[in-house]
Amino acid sequence: MPAPTYHAISKSLHWLTAVAVFGLLGVGLWMTGLPISLLKLQAYAWHKWIGLVVLLFTVLRLLWRWRHPPPPLPGAIARWERALAPVAHWMLLALLVAMPASGWLMSSAAGVSVFWFGVLALPDLVPRNPDLFEALRTLHHLLSRLLIVVVALHVAAVVRHDVVRRDGIFRRMWSIGTK
Ligand code: HEM
Ligand code: HEM
Repeated sequence: MPAPTYHAISKSLHWLTAVAVFGLLGVGLWMTGLPISLLKLQAYAWHKWIGLVVLLFTVLRLLWRWRHPPPPLPGAIARWERALAPVAHWMLLALLVAMPASGWLMSSAAGVSVFWFGVLALPDLVPRNPDLFEALRTLHHLLSRLLIVVVALHVAAVVRHDVVRRDGIFRRMWSIGTK
């Protein structure tokens, strides 16, 4: 019997999110240094819109995961890795909620409402408050650095499994198929 893999829906959401997160980190780091210009405003808008797509995908993913839990790990995986994998994955999932939530809160506290893709007016989560804006901006900045570290460890762990140990971990998230 072939080794179990993640469901196709989980795989699709994982890879769409991964591409979006790499883009958001890149654009986020670049856009803050731009001088005030139309380009900067557009970069901020797209950053917010795609960031909220990640939030939507993560909510869907958590609901899906609840009904379709990850497949059991192969028997060869060490005890410490078995214990650490869910901790790392829950940290990533928590950051995928906390990053966009802190961004949305930050925009609301700055008094800038989000018009999702220029069409859907999203509610302001908090009233305008410059002190709260500064605190949330710092939080978004710090969370982004934590996300970079955890994603780097996550990718390093997958490379170690696939290249050094060759235990088929990458296939669980990559292979094409419905199950
Ligand atoms: C997974 C989702 C997200 C990621 C990975 C992400 C990542 C980042 C990063 C790396 C920065 C640069 C921070 C710095 O160097 O100080 C940034 C800045 C920013 N992000 Fe996000 N972000 C996400 C979602 C959002 C959302 C949903 C919003 C708003 C609705 C948002 C609003 C902002 C704003 C306004 C800034 C600029 C802050 C400043 O001018 O200092 N972000 N983001
Ligand atoms: C090149 C980049 C990436 C690779 C190669 C990769 C690979 C993988 C693999 C193979 C798994 C399955 C682990 C297992 O079998 O249990 C996985 C799970 C996971 N990955 Fe990634 N990943 C990447 C990027 C990302 C990014 C950027 C994020 C989010 C910020 C992310 C979040 C997650 C989460 C939350 C899980 C757990 C899924 C679940 O249990 O529902 N990954 N990844």
